[in-house]
Amino acid sequence: MDKARLTSLVLQQAETIRLLGADCVPVYRLEDGTPPAFEEAHAHEPDQQASLPKGVTPAAPREAAPPPTSVRPSKVAAPATPAIPATPGRVSAAGAARGGSLTLPTCTAQAARARSREEAIKAMELLRAKYDQDAPHTQFVTAHHNIVWGEGNIRARLMFVGEAPGEEEDKTGRPFVGRAGELLNKMITAMGLKREDVYIANVLKTRPPNNATPTTAEAQLCAPYLLEQIAIIGPEVVVTLGLPATRLLLNTDATMSSLRGRWASFTLADGREMPVMPTYHPAYVLRSYTEEVRGKVWSDLRMAMEKLGITLPAKRPGA
Ligand code: URA
Repeated sequence: MDKARLTSLVLQQAETIRLLGADCVPVYRLEDGTPPAFEEAHAHEPDQQASLPKGVTPAAPREAAPPPTSVRPSKVAAPATPAIPATPGRVSAAGAARGGSLTLPTCTAQAARARSREEAIKAMELLRAKYDQDAPHTQFVTAHHNIVWGEGNIRARLMFVGEAPGEEEDKTGRPFVGRAGELLNKMITAMGLKREDVYIANVLKTRPPNNATPTTAEAQLCAPYLLEQIAIIGPEVVVTLGLPATRLLLNTDATMSSLRGRWASFTLADGREMPVMPTYHPAYVLRSYTEEVRGKVWSDLRMAMEKLGITLPAKRPGA
C-alpha cells in the first residue's frame, strides 16, 4: 500500500473514531467473505447514472468527499449511545431551553432487547431531541424546511434506510412520501406488509440542495443518529435503498450492482449484528422501470422477507 493511501486510511479511521467512538473502529465484510471492490469513489449510483435519460445529468456532489476507508474485514460497530460530536451522552442547550439537560442512556444489547415499546419510544424521543440540539446538518449546506426524522413501527422487524429527503418529504417532514415513496409503499404492500409495520428513515434528515447525493462527509456527520435509530428499533433486517445508505452502513465504495442481492452486515456497538440487504433506490427504479430492474428489487425484497421467515412468490406481483 502506498504512503498516500495509508495516510488517507489513517485519517479516515481517526475521523470515524471521532464520530462513532473509539470502541467502534469499523470493520466490514460481505457475508461470503468477498472484500468489496475499491472502485469509483463517491460518484452517484453508477447504475443510476447509466440510466439517466439523454440530456439529464446527475446533480453534482457538493464537495469532493474524502475516499471512504477501504478497511473491509468484518463488521462495523456503533455505540448504543452514539458518539455524537462534542457532547457525548449529554446535551444542554436545547434540553435546557426545555427545562433541563438530556442524557442518552447507554444501552447494552440485553437492555435494548428487554426494552418495552414505551421505553423505546422514549429513547427515540430523546435521540430526536439530541439531534435537534446538535443539528449536525448545520455543518453542511441544506435546502430544508423540515427535519425528516423517520417514522414507523418502533418495534419494526424490517427497516428501510434511504438517502435523504426530497421536496415532498421536506414539505411534510415525513420520509418517502413523494413519487419514490409511492413506489416504496407499493413494494411494502407487495411484501404483504403495511407501511406502519416497518420503520423508514434516511441517512440525511434534511433535504440537500437540488436533491444532490449526500457526500460522504455529510453522511458521516449524520451516521451516529441513524445508527442509534437502528439500535433503538432493533430490526431483524435493514434494507438499504440505494448507494449512499448502502455505502454508509457497509462502509464500502463498491457499486450498487455488486452489492444488491447479497447479504452483508454491520455490528452495533452493543454487539448486535444487523443483517443488511441492499437494493436499488425506488427513485432509480422509477427511472429504470424495466422488468429486469424491478425483478432484481423483488428478488432482494424476497430475500429480506425470507430472513423474517416469510416466503414470497418468486414471481413479482404483476409481472
Ligand atoms: N428519497 C429518499 O432517499 N428518501 C426519502 O425520504 C425520499 C426520497
